[in-house]
Amino acid sequence: MRTIKWQDGTVITIDQTRLPLETVTLKIKTVDEMAEAIKNLRVRGAPLLGAAAAYGLALAACNSNATCESELLADLEDAVQTLKSTRPTAVNLFWAADRVLGKARDFRGRVEETKAIVVQEAQRIADEDAEANLAMGENGAALINDGDVILTHCNAGELATVEYGTALGVIRAAWKQGKKIKVIATETRPLLQGARLTAYELKRDGIPVTLITDSMVGYVMQKRLVNKVIVGADRIVQDAVVNKIGTFTAAVLAHEHGVPFYVAAPKSTFDLTRTASEVIIEERKPAEVTHYGGQQVAAEGIGVLNPAFDITPLKYVTAIIYEGGVYYQKDFAKFKAGISP
Ligand code: MRU
Repeated sequence: MRTIKWQDGTVITIDQTRLPLETVTLKIKTVDEMAEAIKNLRVRGAPLLGAAAAYGLALAACNSNATCESELLADLEDAVQTLKSTRPTAVNLFWAADRVLGKARDFRGRVEETKAIVVQEAQRIADEDAEANLAMGENGAALINDGDVILTHCNAGELATVEYGTALGVIRAAWKQGKKIKVIATETRPLLQGARLTAYELKRDGIPVTLITDSMVGYVMQKRLVNKVIVGADRIVQDAVVNKIGTFTAAVLAHEHGVPFYVAAPKSTFDLTRTASEVIIEERKPAEVTHYGGQQVAAEGIGVLNPAFDITPLKYVTAIIYEGGVYYQKDFAKFKAGISP
């Protein structure tokens, strides 16, 4: 199932803040509406943010009243700025926005033709993500054995991508191959992407899933209740994987207990020109921590820290699964150099 679609000049997607209790379709018609949806996590997950940014530019192009090519490019540049100011950490958003703008700049055609090129490039980015996830699923499924119990954190599923998912794509592919696996999903505080989205996706697909709170990860490792971890990524740099807050804790615990820790992400998540110290970690509003289900649970005026992502050094990563294959620890020099494993 496609999480995001282009239909007659409108972007159709699901409001992920309403799941799993309600399935509400969003019809996004302007780049500002797209920016709002991204900021408020109606649309979220690194690969989906890439497609959303690309489609945001398609909306900007279609809505532009430009009478010449340079006016259209100026409108697209404004739209790129709007989209890039939404969330700073997932590189896919920046990559997709730059790719679509670059395509429009290089084209040098008439206004209507350039608009069509922008829409076409956005569609291509979405299609490529769906294809990458299917390939990644097959590559990763080879690492999964019958009887495995796999821990995953946050939501790296169909909902975080255009289709199929990254970490959950690997799990889906293994399940489709007939491997009898089980999943332990962390709830993923503070916004509960694991409880709301991962558990929902897996239950819907009939894949056995057990929900735990984030603070139970140490317990399940110590009790040998999981034997593999698979997560997605928002950005993979030269020296680290940047992913949902709590990923680093799971990686260190996996290392301590000899549990393989896999990261599944498409090439559009790789940012090999940077290191971890250069990545902006999104800091979200304190109310996400002080409130639970809309109810205040912490003392009024308390100081809060709310980073949305953390940084896992590559030494904790057993392998990176992507659409082109698998980079094991021994291949990380090739990974850093951008060479196939
Ligand atoms: O804040 P979110 O929900 O956008 O964070 C999403 C994650 O951290 C995912 O694990 C990551 O984007 C990988 S999704 C395939």
